[in-house]
Amino acid sequence: MENLGIDPTRIQVLLERERETFAAAHPRSRALFERGKSAYLYGTPLHWMGAWAGAFPIFLQEAAGARLRDVDGNDYVDLCLGDTGAMFGHAEPQIVDAICRQAGRGVTAMLPTEDGLWVADELARRFGLPYWQLATSASDANRFVIRLARMVTGRSKVLVFDGNYHGSVDETQVEFDDHGEMVPRANVHPNGMDHRQTTRLVAFNDVDGLERALAQRDVACVLTEPLLTNIGMVPAAPGFHAALRALTQKHGTLLILDETHTISTGPGGATRAFGLHPDIFVLGKAIGGGIPSAVYGVRRRLAERIWQVKPPPWAGGSPKNQHAGFGGTLVGNALTLAAIRATLEHVMTDANYRHMTELATRLAQDVEALIREHRLPWHVTQIGARVEYMFTPRAPLNGAEARAGRHALLESAIHLFLMNRGVLLTPFHNMMLVCPALEMADVERHNEAFRECLNELAG
Ligand SMILES: Cc1ncc(COP(=O)(O)O)c(C=O)c1O
Repeated sequence: MENLGIDPTRIQVLLERERETFAAAHPRSRALFERGKSAYLYGTPLHWMGAWAGAFPIFLQEAAGARLRDVDGNDYVDLCLGDTGAMFGHAEPQIVDAICRQAGRGVTAMLPTEDGLWVADELARRFGLPYWQLATSASDANRFVIRLARMVTGRSKVLVFDGNYHGSVDETQVEFDDHGEMVPRANVHPNGMDHRQTTRLVAFNDVDGLERALAQRDVACVLTEPLLTNIGMVPAAPGFHAALRALTQKHGTLLILDETHTISTGPGGATRAFGLHPDIFVLGKAIGGGIPSAVYGVRRRLAERIWQVKPPPWAGGSPKNQHAGFGGTLVGNALTLAAIRATLEHVMTDANYRHMTELATRLAQDVEALIREHRLPWHVTQIGARVEYMFTPRAPLNGAEARAGRHALLESAIHLFLMNRGVLLTPFHNMMLVCPALEMADVERHNEAFRECLNELAG
């Protein structure tokens, strides 16, 4: 990277010292990880759990609200929040109650519960789409909505933007190489896919490229986040969403908005905050308060098209053919719906969002002030409860610019420095999430450690 504003040798020196500090403070986590190496393929139940800035992950003892304790007794302010899975805090009492109550009355029976109707009504009220289904993860929901889009359009291709991430969805695992050619994403096996047959890749904010790609009229759906959030944050340029909606409509392509991360924007996600009009809306992770779940909603007009292809049993569809490729025995079970209901009813409230956004705004302002104070050519982006900084003077326009603004070693150095001072950031980029239980003192604890880190890195 060209102008990081930091001397690379300082990064190295800091990182080495912080690694030693980290190792000394986490003997039990280290020992457990050593054991895990002979039990798990990559040492942990999910291999990315090992991707933290230290040489091994900390092992969780317990977490509540915005706080987390590891097995060595170290306490943290948690700004990672399970990489958004716990966006509304850990062990929130009303969610815990709902989960315990339902677990004692049966977890899964492949039968609907009344909670499910409350949930569907609330989703419709919040997000403006009338018909809903569930999935066990956002990845699954995205796979299902792609299937729906192909079913109703009879088209095969999915259009995604360079720098996207929508979970483990094979069609989306592509990126541009240095020559602007679509290639399988680095480190992701193509899994037998010939992406030229399944996928169109366009640069985010490139309206002309989008028009060219859609004009061939073989694209079933565009799958995108309202802004890219998984490669740092790439905001939509003014007019981009209007063009995206108009062009997808013009060319008979369905528009899917994946709000799994951008739900930090507000109680109705970016869709409501920015007045967006997707055909399909996807939301995973935090919606179930940590219980694996996702929801997707469709417009009435699209529901009618779906019923033409696959009629419901009360309109002549075969009751024997209900699966139709949308798997998931545990989908929408009683426990999941109780957890989603409690999350929507008690935690994803307007009042909580006001608090989260207020503290996130303060965090963003303080981080920006520290960056300015040290004359660093970096910038800060905030969407509601989420704050993120990148090592470029302005927000990237697309995935290529975002990639150029990343610096793995510097990210690790900052994350480890903060971790050693009791503040957790997500290991994948400089994202900070504010949950309802976070307090101003927690923000100040972060700021103090971040200031100390920049003093050392930037002098
Ligand atoms: C925007 C978006 N969609 C989907 C997913 C996939 O979620 P999961 O891993 O829970 O399936 C992610 C995961 O980070 C995501 O960021």
